[in-house]
Amino acid sequence: MPKPPEPEKNSRIPGFYNLNRSDRLVELAKGAGLTEADLAAFDPELGLSVDQADHMIENVVGLHALPLGIALNYQVNGRDVLVPMAIEEPSVVAGASFMARLARAGGGFQAEATAPEMIGQMQVLDVPDLPAARQALLDQRTGLLEEAAGIDPVLQRLGGGPRDLEVRLIEQSPVGPFLVLHLIYDVRDAMGANAVNTAVEKLAPRVEDLTGGRVHLRILSNLADRRLARARCTIPLDQLGFGDYSPEEVRDGIIAAWAFAAVDPYRAATHNKGIMNGVDAVVIATGNDWRAVEAGAHAYAARGGSYTSLSTWGKDAAGNLVGELELPMAVGIVGGATRVHPTAQAALKLLGVQTASQLAEIITAVGLAQNLAALRALATEGIQRGHMGLHARQVAAAAGARGEQIERLARQLVQEKTVRIDRAEEILNAWGSGTISTQENKIS
Ligand code: MEV
Repeated sequence: MPKPPEPEKNSRIPGFYNLNRSDRLVELAKGAGLTEADLAAFDPELGLSVDQADHMIENVVGLHALPLGIALNYQVNGRDVLVPMAIEEPSVVAGASFMARLARAGGGFQAEATAPEMIGQMQVLDVPDLPAARQALLDQRTGLLEEAAGIDPVLQRLGGGPRDLEVRLIEQSPVGPFLVLHLIYDVRDAMGANAVNTAVEKLAPRVEDLTGGRVHLRILSNLADRRLARARCTIPLDQLGFGDYSPEEVRDGIIAAWAFAAVDPYRAATHNKGIMNGVDAVVIATGNDWRAVEAGAHAYAARGGSYTSLSTWGKDAAGNLVGELELPMAVGIVGGATRVHPTAQAALKLLGVQTASQLAEIITAVGLAQNLAALRALATEGIQRGHMGLHARQVAAAAGARGEQIERLARQLVQEKTVRIDRAEEILNAWGSGTISTQENKIS
């Protein structure tokens, strides 16, 4: 039977910000071509239960919640996509959505991912003859790969499995020279840590036989530099101007801001942190391992020997702003928390991805957009201005404001240009809305 055509998806939902939560869900379901029931797990009551959590980690005493927002306006490789983001920081979802709208005017994001190949490492110590051991492993390459292929027949059936072996000699280390074997392993739609770790553990005895050494560590590398994702966007020049800033000024300001990160590790760390604001939020929303993605990103940023920007910004022949981001992206859509966490499942359904590579492409597009949001603000009016309104709402809530009080109090704090908790509490007290102190608020 031919597959029914996919429902039209639309990630442009004007006025989404002003809707209440349940109306947002209705719009979301429409935009993504899903039913409201599909998205029910975004309801905290129907998300992860304590019982489920108890099977995920040890010593469970509760759940730790994060806000889940939706980034709008995304078009990745011609497909509209609504992007779930789990993050506590104000301005990130708004910034990601706004920049996706600018990118949309230039055709959206073009993204691609390499094959989902992870690296499993074996550290071989006490090798009597390092060059001979290296040669023995290379001579037995085919046999070793065949043996590795038998370890996970399911992955093999799905088209994954071992792809290659690399042998490295470490001439000098605090414990003397040793040998490192890399098993290159295609993990298909999984993040892959379990598959890779199982494979290197099972292969270790054979490696010991061949080298005469002792296999010490057997673990995947988070520097997943064979599993890269790239995203590009072109922001038409006419989208860049605002207020008193000309389009050229904004464009050149963004390029100069990027140049700072390209040459200075102190700036690059913050620049890349801004990228990871977008990346991590989607990685977390989809139940993936954000520590693995973080580790891979920063190690990749330092691959040339000095830590630098993960993105690049420049202009094309027509003067439009062009951005590109490339980083390792070890994320999966099967296994792990993606399988058991109901909210992660709903997030994946909303994204409509069929492969881990598609997920990696979207995440990278969001990282690039988030980088643009930060650079655009920093290169013009500064980061605090746009931040203030959202930050003020958080301060208002922390001071004890509830319901409509939050907006009202936030507005007043911004007007007074004093977004501070002590002032927020003072105003609340003056309103006579109960003298809820921050401490009491935390306890209740
Ligand atoms: C804040 O979370 C992220 C930024 O510092 C990123 C940057 O400086 O590029 C604004």
